[in-house]
Parts: sequence; C-alpha cells; structure tokens
Amino acid sequence: MRYPIYRFVPLPHRIAIAGSLVMVLSLTTGCDRDPDLALPEPYRSLEIPAERLVSDEARVHGRELYVALCALCHGWHGDGRGTRTALSTNPRDFTDPRWRRGMTAKRAYWVIQEGRNGTAMASFAFLSSDQTWDLVAYVLSIAEKGALVEGVDADATSSPET
Ligand code: HEC
Repeated sequence: MRYPIYRFVPLPHRIAIAGSLVMVLSLTTGCDRDPDLALPEPYRSLEIPAERLVSDEARVHGRELYVALCALCHGWHGDGRGTRTALSTNPRDFTDPRWRRGMTAKRAYWVIQEGRNGTAMASFAFLSSDQTWDLVAYVLSIAEKGALVEGVDADATSSPET
C-alpha cells in the first residue's frame, strides 16, 4: 500500500504519463539550452554581431531609429508608455529586467523584422540588417543602462513623448 492511487492506474496509462513527463522535461531543458531554437529560419541561424551589440555606437544609432519609429508605442523611456495607448496588447516594458532576461538578440531581431501577428507590433522589414541590429542593441540595453535620453539626442527631447 505504498502508492495506493498509482496502483489503480493501468500500465498503458502509466507509460503515457511517464512519456509526457519526459517530453515536458526535455522541452523545458531544451529551452534553457538555447531559446533561439524555437525561432523560424532564417532567424534561427542568424549570425549575432556580438561586438556591435555592446558598442555605444550601435546603441546611439539604435536610439535614433527608436525615437523615430518605436517610441510612439514603446515610450520615450522604453517603459511601454508611449503616446499610442489603448492598443489591444500593451507594448513591452523594456526597462523590466525580467523582460530582458527572457529576451535574446535573435528573438528581438525576429520580432522587429516580422512584427507580431494579432498585436500592434508591426513588421519593420524595410530596415537593413545593420539598422535592425542597432535597434536590438539599444532595446536590450535599456533594462541595464537606461533609455539614453540625456545628452545623446538632446535636440529630440522637445518631443511631446511621455
Ligand atoms: C504601433 C505600436 C508599436 C510600434 C510603433 C512598435 N511596437 Fe514593438 N510592440 C508593440 C506591442 C503592442 C508589442 C507587444 C506584442 C505582444 O503582445 O507580443 C510589442 C513588442 C515588441 C517587442 C517584444 C517582443 C517580445 O516578445 O517581448 C520588441 C523587441 C519590440 N516590440 C520592438 C519594437 C521596435 C524596435 C520598434 C520600432 C522599430 C517597435 N517595437 C515599434 C507595439 C509597437
């Protein structure tokens, strides 16, 4: 009588349950290993320009593009509080470290290029690969380094943004 409930589960069911447990486990550990494996091609195989992503130059250039194309929804400070409100889903809060931890460079690149169906997040496929990486560099840096509002784009701070 050590496993009273389990004893009444027929063998095929036990196998099925064990099988699904193994599947769930391997899926979750698979995600831990490389979350980018879930991305569609060609994004999964993108070469990440690691040096560019951490450069100030890319962040500053990314901020310029961000102000022109993204701040309307994602907010002047990257906190998801742009002037465009009442969207069906809220834009992401890029200042949130939890969001940053769950995001990868390739995933951000993919979302920017393809947009997200069923949300206000549009496709920005007209951007070059370099421009997209600069946006990725900037957006991913916000949680750690802030929104680069001071100094860098002083002439744009008169924007009516939040
Ligand atoms: C019209 C409003 C709007 C504009 C403009 C916009 N976004 Fe978004 N964005 C959204 C919304 C809404 C979401 C949340 C989508 C969702 O629920 O998955 C989002 C999500 C994202 C995400 C996160 C996806 C995730 O999985 O967490 C990134 C990265 C992003 N946007 C980058 C950008 C960049 C870079 C630009 C400018 C080139 C931009 N967005 C312009 C509305 C916008």
